[in-house]
Amino acid sequence: MKTAALHTPPEKRIIIALDGPAGSGKSTTARRVAEALHYIYIDTGAMYRAITLAALREERSLTNSDLMPIVKEYRLELTTTPDGQRTILGREDVTNEIRSPEVTKLVSAVSALPSVREAMTKRQREMGQNGGVVMDGRDIGTVVFPEAELKVFLIASLEERAKRRLAELTGTDGGSHAITLEEMCHQIHERDKQDTERLVSPLRKAADAVEIDTSQLSIDQQTEQIITLAQARIGSNR
Ligand code: DC
Repeated sequence: MKTAALHTPPEKRIIIALDGPAGSGKSTTARRVAEALHYIYIDTGAMYRAITLAALREERSLTNSDLMPIVKEYRLELTTTPDGQRTILGREDVTNEIRSPEVTKLVSAVSALPSVREAMTKRQREMGQNGGVVMDGRDIGTVVFPEAELKVFLIASLEERAKRRLAELTGTDGGSHAITLEEMCHQIHERDKQDTERLVSPLRKAADAVEIDTSQLSIDQQTEQIITLAQARIGSNR
């Protein structure tokens, strides 16, 4: 005999799009939200970074035609481990290499190329199509999943974002990237400019995204806010 419980519709597994500029707290928050909801976390910036790393290693010029073979030929895979997302390029784990200053400097130029974006957007849609994902990037709510059930746009002051990035570098690399706060502000400002002014899929807030200013918030607070928003959406999408 069937029980009533068998007729309860399964909980809807929604798509959560988390966009915003560099250092706004997207990746840490997205990872925490995904853990709490038992969703998959996808850091789409890692994909653009991996293509940039391959381009640097192969000394390609940053043009559509020069990068298309890389996009087509390299196997690019994101895997979820208990320690976070790993980025695999070909057979190599490049999770750490893609965070180098050289890659960071060029990634905005690579991500502005239409052919690269087209291929990455297709992959991202495949990865998120079944829901149950928290995807962070620049164009997730506007281009990749404009129909996402929850869109959040994180912002924070330039100085706060630069401080966070410096703290990250010091933490992961023993402080070997000696760079001042002023230089970091300049680098992030430049990247913001390139990401918001590019012609294809520029960084912008979707009209229906919830904006959260994280300048004065702890990671716990911003995570909590997004989980509350997500639970409301999950409830209304049953
Ligand atoms: O989030 P991040 O700093 O790792 O992203 C690296 C670059 O990739 C960023 O400068 C812009 C680009 N990017 C993008 O254009 N679209 C995305 N969905 C994610 C990242």
